[in-house]
Amino acid sequence: MIDMDENDISFFKDGLRLDGRRTDQLRPIKIEVGVLARADGSCYIEMGGNKVIAAVYGPREVHPRHLQEVTRAIVRYRYNMASFSVEERKRPGPDRRSYELSKVSREALEPVILTSYFPRSVIDVFVEVLQADAGTRTAGINAAAVALVDAGIPMKSMISACAAGKVADTIVLDPMKEEDNFGQADLPIAMTPNGDITLLQMDGNLSPDEFHMAVEMAMKGARDIYEIQRRALVEKYSQLEAPTVEVKACE
Ligand code: CDP
Repeated sequence: MIDMDENDISFFKDGLRLDGRRTDQLRPIKIEVGVLARADGSCYIEMGGNKVIAAVYGPREVHPRHLQEVTRAIVRYRYNMASFSVEERKRPGPDRRSYELSKVSREALEPVILTSYFPRSVIDVFVEVLQADAGTRTAGINAAAVALVDAGIPMKSMISACAAGKVADTIVLDPMKEEDNFGQADLPIAMTPNGDITLLQMDGNLSPDEFHMAVEMAMKGARDIYEIQRRALVEKYSQLEAPTVEVKACE
């Protein structure tokens, strides 16, 4: 959050937000499945001004080998922001923020991955932010979840992520950059379609009532995103023709 008087910015005009949305409205979302030929699974997502790509590799052999677990696969998640993805050039390479986002995003997905099916192996998830406009961690998690399905990784359920925020004392869904940077709070969540929360972070200040309202709003957003993820996967896989199996009679 930037330390600036939020009264300097007018967040609403005629009851609508700066980009014309209602307080409980998501930004437009576009999801494309299987966009990278060399990855086992991949997904490109646009959530408003965010453009993010996720690639999944594995299950595969762990390097370095001392990281391997005898009873399960390990999951690695690397969140990376391209230097050209933000207004002010970002210095390339990992930093404190990307370590934090990689850790919380991995923890958001790991509980649904059936890691015990693949002992001594690794599932690698790479998330590249090409264009950022607030909400890149949630966009990354949504893309990564779809890419995991595309890679055929067995999962207990899907994961969908969405944030709610507070601007001008109003709780809003899916904050864009101006709302995130100059707002009073930001609350990203990730959850299963059943509503089991696997990520909940909060930046800024919310009263208990506002907190509950923001969680409810973000959960509703995540449910809507789940439908979009599901539709993208169905669209991709319903286009594929069923393999023709030729069965020869025994002679
Ligand atoms: O992207 P997300 O909301 O998950 O994380 P954040 O740390 O709250 O960042 C909010 C936004 O600030 C990002 O989406 C970018 O648009 C912007 N940002 C930036 O302009 N330069 C950075 N080095 C990091 C973030």
